Amino acid sequence: MKLLNVGCGRRFHPDWTNIDLVASSPEVREYDLRKGLPFPDGSFDAVYHSHVLEHLDPTSAEEMLRECVRVLKPEGVLRIVVPDLEGIAREYLRTLESAASDRDNPAAVFSHQWMTRELLDQMCRQKLGGEMGQLMRTSHEAEQAYIYSRIGQELGGNGSVGRKTIWRRVKQLTLSLRKRIALTAVSVIEGSSGRMAYREARFRQSGEIHRWMYDRVSLTQLVQCLGLESARVCSASESKIPGFSSYGLDSDSNGARKPDSLFFESVKSTAACRQTNFPQSNLRSAA
Ligand SMILES: C[S@@+](CC[C@H](N)C(=O)[O-])C[C@H]1O[C@@H](n2cnc3c(N)ncnc32)[C@H](O)[C@@H]1O
Repeated sequence: MKLLNVGCGRRFHPDWTNIDLVASSPEVREYDLRKGLPFPDGSFDAVYHSHVLEHLDPTSAEEMLRECVRVLKPEGVLRIVVPDLEGIAREYLRTLESAASDRDNPAAVFSHQWMTRELLDQMCRQKLGGEMGQLMRTSHEAEQAYIYSRIGQELGGNGSVGRKTIWRRVKQLTLSLRKRIALTAVSVIEGSSGRMAYREARFRQSGEIHRWMYDRVSLTQLVQCLGLESARVCSASESKIPGFSSYGLDSDSNGARKPDSLFFESVKSTAACRQTNFPQSNLRSAA
């Protein structure tokens, strides 16, 4: 089996080909997805990505998925894991009702506060960790149990994923020097508002921001427009990829690693294999 984990972060298995913008281990190939996927057509039996698609704007996400389809073998499986917009929206409404009807109940008020952040924070935050990180740090044990029920092992935080090689240190030093020079130049030309705009734009480019969200309907439409078949929602441990749960990618002995997720699979059909050039913006014309 040839298996590809795209944007693996620190969650990867050595039996897979693992790629990420930042290599967290020698087993991860450093590669920027925005350049497409560096593999020939039809090279993999399965392509998987978890909590990556929502970081791309809808056009780039569609391009990335098209690349995933291209590198899949006929009948290959595409497994997509994203935060579940439907699940988040439903839980937000549930906690809203409960906080509105029981304003003196601190647990109800906290759950509503958390869900407001879960819905919005990653799209509009302006600093590392955002309001979710702040609430995680200041919450007490019972509140943390609720957060854990929502985001699972992410509660511990990810920290920096990069290997601290000399090359990486030099790159980081050069980058921070370039940013300082650019910031000074922008401040001189555009004043303090230009400085703020530059800072905000740099942060939004850092990869932390969610640029779109998906539910079971929109994801089905998206993969169908790309010629995939048998689209279905599954659980963290359920998959058409043989032995998937043994890799410990979406679940381990503690259950689902990211319980707030939508786990979704589809299969590359023979029709998709024949379609060498997918029409651009298929999805938007279908909508
Ligand atoms: C939220 S993390 C998810 C990591 C892992 N898949 C998981 O489920 O824990 C998103 C990952 O996507 C990677 N990523 C974001 N933009 C990328 C790009 N343009 N090229 C490659 N990887 C990218 C990030 O470096 C990060 O590791």
